[in-house]
Amino acid sequence: MNKNDLIHILATPDRLELERIRGAAEETLLRCCGNKVYFRGLIEFSNLCDNDCLYCGIRKSNRRVARYVLTKEKIIEAALWCGEQGYGSVVLQSGERCDEKFIGFVEEIVAAIKDKSRTPAMPEGLGITLSVGEQSEATYRRFFAAGAHRYLLRIETTSPELYKRLHPANMRLPDRIESLNALRRAGFQVGTGVMIGLPGQTVEQLADDLLFFRDIDIDMIGMGPYIMHHDTPLSAWRDVHERTAADRFDLALRMIAAARLLLEDVNIAAATALQAIDPEGREKALSWGANIIMPQLTPTEVRHDYQLYDGKPCLDESADQCRSCLQIRIAGAGREIGYDSWGDSRHAINKR
Ligand code: 5AD
Repeated sequence: MNKNDLIHILATPDRLELERIRGAAEETLLRCCGNKVYFRGLIEFSNLCDNDCLYCGIRKSNRRVARYVLTKEKIIEAALWCGEQGYGSVVLQSGERCDEKFIGFVEEIVAAIKDKSRTPAMPEGLGITLSVGEQSEATYRRFFAAGAHRYLLRIETTSPELYKRLHPANMRLPDRIESLNALRRAGFQVGTGVMIGLPGQTVEQLADDLLFFRDIDIDMIGMGPYIMHHDTPLSAWRDVHERTAADRFDLALRMIAAARLLLEDVNIAAATALQAIDPEGREKALSWGANIIMPQLTPTEVRHDYQLYDGKPCLDESADQCRSCLQIRIAGAGREIGYDSWGDSRHAINKR
């Protein structure tokens, strides 16, 4: 597939053809990755952030957010609950900080979760994915040594102009790309992704994003629609080239299908942001080529304070409710849940 093919998938107005594209993406998924959907229990353990991304609700300058850091005990408790449910993996996500206190804390919780989650069903313990932003290679190595083996760092957009418009001057696209390379050198399976439907973003840029995923040989993808947050500078741009929520949703599903057709054996997450637009967003993503779901394990008392965008779904659902809700949704999409397994991407496994 070349850039024009990708643009065509992202832009064709022909609904019948689009349904054929969806079917082909689903068929590629089942052939290259199987029928299973894997869970990563998501623990948003802190919203403290040193960055000031113009689109993000927990950006440093947003004084209206009550800041929190979960205790080590709370985080471990949530992770072990996840193990008991047979989920197999957790994602530890937070705002970005690079101070030693933070780095040491992450290292400690990773090691503790690894240690405490070993069971007869999972002798190697839970799979741990980190999503704590741009760090030095030395830090990535410490995280890997502590027991994390996958890392998510969205590139957000590969367009240098758009990247500049969305971030403060101290954040640079080449640094972020270098971070992805450093993660790979440190031994991680690496995931990245973009926001879809950003103000001023074109389908050409999105096609380039997909080619970038291929060129850096990514193992996992997490991408979803851009959704405005009312307390961010980007919300002032709502009238500039703005697509409707339905259009951003449609474009996100097309991006998932295009990524599946282009990359075949990578893991692709059905992003929670999809569900902020459509109550059936995540199931729909499964039938467009996604195979990973991240159920919320963040304790409900702080979940309201981790709002990257407006209308975050499932704010008050307990982890238990979330579990039964997802079981029904996944069965409804004709898929099976992959219990008690890390569910690494076939792409990463095939590389070994
Ligand atoms: N809309 C959608 N996604 C967002 N993110 C941050 N802010 C928003 C928003 N307003 C995404 C970014 C980041 C991830 C953790 O959340 O892509 O990498």
